[in-house]
Formats: sequence, structure tokens, C-alpha cells
Amino acid sequence: MDKLLIKGGNRLQGDVTISGAKNAALPILCAGLLTSGDVQLSNVPHLQDVRTMLRLLAQTGLKVDQDGDKVTLNGSNITSLEAPYELVKTMRASILVLGPLLARFGEAKVSLPGGCAIGSRPVDQHIKGLQALGAEITIEAGYIHAKCKKLKGTRIVTDMITVTGTENLMMAAVLAEGETVLENAAREPEVTDLAHLLVAMGAKIEGIGTDRLVITGVPELHGASHAVISDRIEAATFLCAVAATGGDITIRNTRTDIMDAALDKLREIGLRLTVGDDWIRAQMDGRPQPVTFRTTEYPGFPTDMQAQFMAVNTIANGASRVTETIFENRFMHVQEMNRLGAAIETDGNTAFIKGVEQLVGAPVMATDLRASASLVIAGLAARGETLVDRIYHLDRGYDRMEVKLQAIGADISRIK
Ligand code: EPU
Repeated sequence: MDKLLIKGGNRLQGDVTISGAKNAALPILCAGLLTSGDVQLSNVPHLQDVRTMLRLLAQTGLKVDQDGDKVTLNGSNITSLEAPYELVKTMRASILVLGPLLARFGEAKVSLPGGCAIGSRPVDQHIKGLQALGAEITIEAGYIHAKCKKLKGTRIVTDMITVTGTENLMMAAVLAEGETVLENAAREPEVTDLAHLLVAMGAKIEGIGTDRLVITGVPELHGASHAVISDRIEAATFLCAVAATGGDITIRNTRTDIMDAALDKLREIGLRLTVGDDWIRAQMDGRPQPVTFRTTEYPGFPTDMQAQFMAVNTIANGASRVTETIFENRFMHVQEMNRLGAAIETDGNTAFIKGVEQLVGAPVMATDLRASASLVIAGLAARGETLVDRIYHLDRGYDRMEVKLQAIGADISRIK
């Protein structure tokens, strides 16, 4: 199992190019199942989760051609309507094949994802929405088995805001008969990016970017080209890194208009930001100021940045409070940060952080994707050596993070 060895203390300096967004790329790849035409994608990130999704899709018979960050999909010869447990257990986003397969072929069988490190994460809203569209769904032997003659448009109000739930239901509704209204839809930029691709494929969707999507089904979709949106979480992760170490970096190929909540907090921390159209220069001197925040749905503060900001708070000049409202168990990084000398206590879904002057390197264990990133940030700021174990979590969602960090002066290496 690979590990990362970090010698902390270096200031970061230079340019970082941000990759395409994992959480946009995953549903977008599944949209390839909706048509027999070619779906040509660019800015697809190099990630373990993308490789897993491509393996899953290839297994359905979807033709996949990959050349660097470009992927062309062709779904004219789909032969299997199943997502097996072996793949779903490694990546929950596999559930995103359910909507497209059912809508186009009238049947899909997808292993029920289990819980994961950050919470129980049920998929009841995906199922409830598809049932409302007319699917017959049974759950048997660990599989969701969905069948329908033709999905029929309807009004769906999800009990809570769900990102992949909205994506699954949107992909189902584009091929349903008549009008579907999705109320309480997720407004995350990754949902919007998927909607833009679907429209380019011939789908009729109104209200894109709002919490009410009105979708008029069409009999079929055609091929299209699309560039995956830049990863706002990767971008903000690098900005947190420089907030923790000090330095002067410029992130490029980024979307500055979808990062308000994170950028506001970074300014509060003391990062000096110069924001261009698709780049941000970040300069940091001295100790970070503490920031108190609670995670919430877009456009609020993203849960996927909670751990990285907490890493900055551990060395801030004062105390802060972080409240996680999206997932019930997303504080697994707290104990690991305390091993590095942080002073964090938790009470339910709130963490109380007393900033310490200096973290001290130690061996730590990554527990999930964003927790891994937060431990890397803590390690970069710590004195001495930090060894981050189980970084397969990091590889799932960050495109060659250690290579990008090396290029801006971090002393970080991968140990095989
Ligand atoms: N929920 C239910 N029932 C459902 C669906 C969701 O109870 O049917 C609950 C969840 O358990 C959670 C809340 O609703 O408490 C929100 O979950 P959501 O469905 O929005 O999360 P997700 O779609 O499974 C995506 C991202 C996550 C990100 C969340 C929240 C993808 C592939 N994953 O997950 O990304 O944290 O939205 O923004 O888009 C990550 O990248 O590290 C990551 C975990």
C-alpha cells in the first residue's frame, strides 16, 4: 500500500493547474449510457474513481476510448444492465448508472451501496424518485432491481437535497414520457455541469442551477462534446495548503465563480487573493486566523472542504468551531490531527479547535478522501516528518496531488 512521506515546513510557491472535477466527471461518464451516439469528453481527471467508473461502464458494453484527459464513449452496443457488488463496494457513485440504464433500456440491476467511512449514506431518495417515475423496484440479495416499460414524467420532491440523487433522477427523466418536475434539487455546480451536457445531447431541461428542474422527456438523445468543469474542491484544497504553509501560488484552469463560500473563508483566514477569470493568486504570510463555519449544500460551505479547513484551523491564531451538517460521521481526521499535536475536541457534529503554534510530524492514517487531503495539509505545515498511510483514498479523488505539490516546493514523496 502506498504512503506519502512529507517533510513539513516548506513555503509553497509557483503555479498549479487544476484538473476536471471528480464529482462532475462521474455522472457525466454515466450519461454516455443514454445514447447510441458518441459522447466526447475533455478535461476528464486522472483518478482512481474515474478508472473504476470506466471499468464499470465498459462492462455494460459501453465503448470507451481514452487519450489523456479526453474520453469518447459510445453506447450503441450495451450488453449488460448490471453494476456488480465488486465495483459498487469500491465506489458508491456506481449508483449513477441506475437512472440512465433504466430510462433507456427499461431495466437495471445495481448492487446496493453499503455505508462508508463518512456515514450510512442511504439511496432511498434515488429509489423513491424512480418509483414515482413508474419504475418497479425490488431489493433482493443486496441488489436494487429496477424495471419499467417506459418512465412517465411526474413531480418529485426529495426529502433532502441529494447531489447524486438529483443527477440520477435527472438522467432518468430526460428520456421519460412527458414532464418531470424535480423539486428540492441539488444546485451543486457538478449537477449543473451534467445538465449542460444533457442539453447538448438534446435533453430539455429548464431551471438549471436552481432547486427546481423542469425536464420534458424526449424519445432519444444524441452524441455531444463537453469539457468537464474544473474541480472547485481540488482548487480550494491547494489554497488551504498555502494558507497553512505560507507562500505565493497561482492556481490555473479554475472556475472562480463557483467557489464563493470557500474564498470568503480563505480571506478571513488571511490569504491575500487576486482573482482572475480562470486563475487565483494566493499569498500568505504569518499565522492563519481561525474560521468558524458550518457545512451546507451549495452555494453554502461544502462538506468536501470541511477537513482541509480544519487542518488550517489547527494552527490558527485562536479558537474556532466547525459544524458538519451533511454527513453524520465526517470527523475521522480529528483523531489523526490530534496525533500531530492539534487540540480538537468534538461534541456530536461540532468540532472545537484551539489553534496551536506548531504541529509536529507523526505517522497518520487516511480514512477517506477529503480526510486524506487534510492530513497532507497538516503534514506540510508540521515540523518534521509525517507519514500518511492508506493514501489510496487520496488517489481516488485527487489527480497526482503529490506531483502537483512537489512542483510548488513541497517536500513530499510517494513510498511504494
Ligand atoms: N441521503 C439520504 N438518502 C438518499 C440520498 C442522500 O439520506 O437517498 C443523505 C446522505 O446520507 C447525506 C445527505 O443526504 O447525509 C446528502 O448526500 P448526497 O446524496 O448529496 O451525497 P452524495 O450524492 O452521495 C455527493 C458527492 C460527495 C459529497 C456530497 C455532498 C459525488 C460522487 N459525491 O455525494 O463527494 O460530499 O455529494 O456534497 O458527487 C467526495 O468527493 O469526497 C464526496 C464524498
